[in-house]
Amino acid sequence: MHSVHSAAPTWDPQQYLRHSGHRTRPFLDLLARIPGLPAQDRPARIADLGSGPGNVTVLLADRWTDAHITGFDLSPEMLERAEKDWAGTTRGGGWLDFRPADAAHWTPDEPYDLIVSNAALQWVPNHPESFAAWIDGLHPGGTLAFQVPGNFTSPSHALLGELCETPEWRARLGDQGRRFVHVLDTEDYLTRLTGLGCEADVWETTYCQLLQGEDPVLDWVKGTALRPVLTTLGDDEEAVDHFLAQYRALLAEAYPPGPYGTVFPFRRLFAVARKRS
Ligand SMILES: C[S@@+](CC[C@H](N)C(=O)[O-])C[C@H]1O[C@@H](n2cnc3c(N)ncnc32)[C@H](O)[C@@H]1O
Repeated sequence: MHSVHSAAPTWDPQQYLRHSGHRTRPFLDLLARIPGLPAQDRPARIADLGSGPGNVTVLLADRWTDAHITGFDLSPEMLERAEKDWAGTTRGGGWLDFRPADAAHWTPDEPYDLIVSNAALQWVPNHPESFAAWIDGLHPGGTLAFQVPGNFTSPSHALLGELCETPEWRARLGDQGRRFVHVLDTEDYLTRLTGLGCEADVWETTYCQLLQGEDPVLDWVKGTALRPVLTTLGDDEEAVDHFLAQYRALLAEAYPPGPYGTVFPFRRLFAVARKRS
């Protein structure tokens, strides 16, 4: 077990899962590009870093049916939800468990066939510095695969950053509004992973998401990018309401509802790096 970072934001699995359809799609697209694993005459060993509520982790068991899969996460709330919903024997007779770990300090404790991470490494500063250790911990022919958002200059995130930088909120929040921006360009990921001796496949996709309901973009970011702000404001309901009212007004202008819903484009970066056999 690894030490858990105490200043991490508090996660709300229920809020996060409200958009699970849109959030699952990139994981399936990532999965589709992962080559066969080296495990032939034994169950595959798989790690999922930042596994959240476990609803995408369990999809790994659909492809590697007898695999032993471990989801690692920093959030007690997420781990509790994942344990409750998914831990135990999988449909194909494999095993799924969840453990606390900070991906910033995680290194493989045994050889893995696949290390995967979906929508989590953007929260992990310097995660590219860990690639060498993670690849080192793969069996020959094993794969490191991850997906991170690439939308930090989009209005949803730019407006959040600007609001956090206003004197009123800067004094209250410090750096909390900008805690999540830790991703590289696709070219950088490709160069680093190739430089570590892998066959690397790196790409990006912008999903043109159509969200429904009132203030749907605010509802989306409440599950992710707003976590540090909401955690810092904590029980101060007046401050939370005041912040959300300001942010809601900015988002409503940037993402007006259309006749069929609210269009919320979302760019994501993908990398699949296979260690040579
Ligand atoms: C946006 S959620 C993604 C969850 C899941 N992978 C999915 O695709 O639905 C990000 C997750 O990363 C976790 N996380 C953030 N920083 C982390 C860290 N340093 N180590 C481990 N997990 C982390 C959070 O607790 C959260 O569960």
